[in-house]
Amino acid sequence: MSESGIRKFEKIAPLLGCPLCGNALAPQNGASLVCARGHCFDVAKKGYVNFAPQKKHRMYEAALFESRQRAFLAGFYETPLQALCEAAARYIGTTAPVLVDAGCGEGYYALGIRRFFGEEAEVFGLDIEKDAIHLAARGGNDVKWLVADLSRIPLKDGCVDAVFNIFSPANYAEFRRVLKQNGIVVKAVPGEHYLTEIRQAAAEQLKSSAYSPARVADHFEGYLSTVERVRVKNTFPLTREQLFDFLTLTPMMFGVDKAKLKTEDIHEITIDVEILVGVYRG
Ligand SMILES: C[S@@+](CC[C@H](N)C(=O)[O-])C[C@H]1O[C@@H](n2cnc3c(N)ncnc32)[C@H](O)[C@@H]1O
Ligand SMILES: [Zn+2]
Repeated sequence: MSESGIRKFEKIAPLLGCPLCGNALAPQNGASLVCARGHCFDVAKKGYVNFAPQKKHRMYEAALFESRQRAFLAGFYETPLQALCEAAARYIGTTAPVLVDAGCGEGYYALGIRRFFGEEAEVFGLDIEKDAIHLAARGGNDVKWLVADLSRIPLKDGCVDAVFNIFSPANYAEFRRVLKQNGIVVKAVPGEHYLTEIRQAAAEQLKSSAYSPARVADHFEGYLSTVERVRVKNTFPLTREQLFDFLTLTPMMFGVDKAKLKTEDIHEITIDVEILVGVYRG
């Protein structure tokens, strides 16, 4: 049974740490979490905590998350989700893991991770965009949703088994801080042919229509030893409505004038995802 509001966070309060000063957080007056220094964060009835109330971020419009949600519901990302979970499960020893999806967007992966690892798992979905977390918390579910900056994760040191970081920016020093000694980072990045059909259609407007995940992997390797690399690549048929969603859901198309694109011949889409599993050295 999913719980909403403060009850959802009471049990896991010992894992939480104030993002401003690092002190423990405790429930107060049934509506907020407060630290010893008086930093106070509201718990929304819908079941998320806003740890970044001062941030008016909006790098992504709500439409991006809504398009992403439709593409997720249509099943385009089921294989990467399964591969991410299976890859993590090969390294997570505990039966009741604490898992964080850092940059969780509208929540598809965090919910899938919760389903895969079962009721014993404690899953946190964290994103800086309140719009995304609103969508994620909709309908009530057991994932602990946090509006928060992934460079200041509101969790204590050394309490997390795996940080998932999917198509999102990373902060490897912060991931290291929250991870247990043998914790892992599971990162997903677009593969070389990710959405190649629409990138080709937009080639003239894109600085470089050829994309390479190598730079992200190099940055990852700067902090972690890669213990596994998995590639998941599928091409699916596409309706016109779904094509519109793919043009909207990816930051790759930011700044592209979509009216100028020749999209009549696009009838399929390639989902190509690279998954890196890493452990910290030393
Ligand atoms: C391309 S979206 C991917 C979202 C989701 N993982 C998915 O695959 O659908 C990137 C996400 O990273 C989030 N993000 C960017 N900077 C962030 C930060 N500093 N802290 C937390 N989230 C951040 C954005 O709000 C956005 O939801
Ligand atoms: Zn504090």
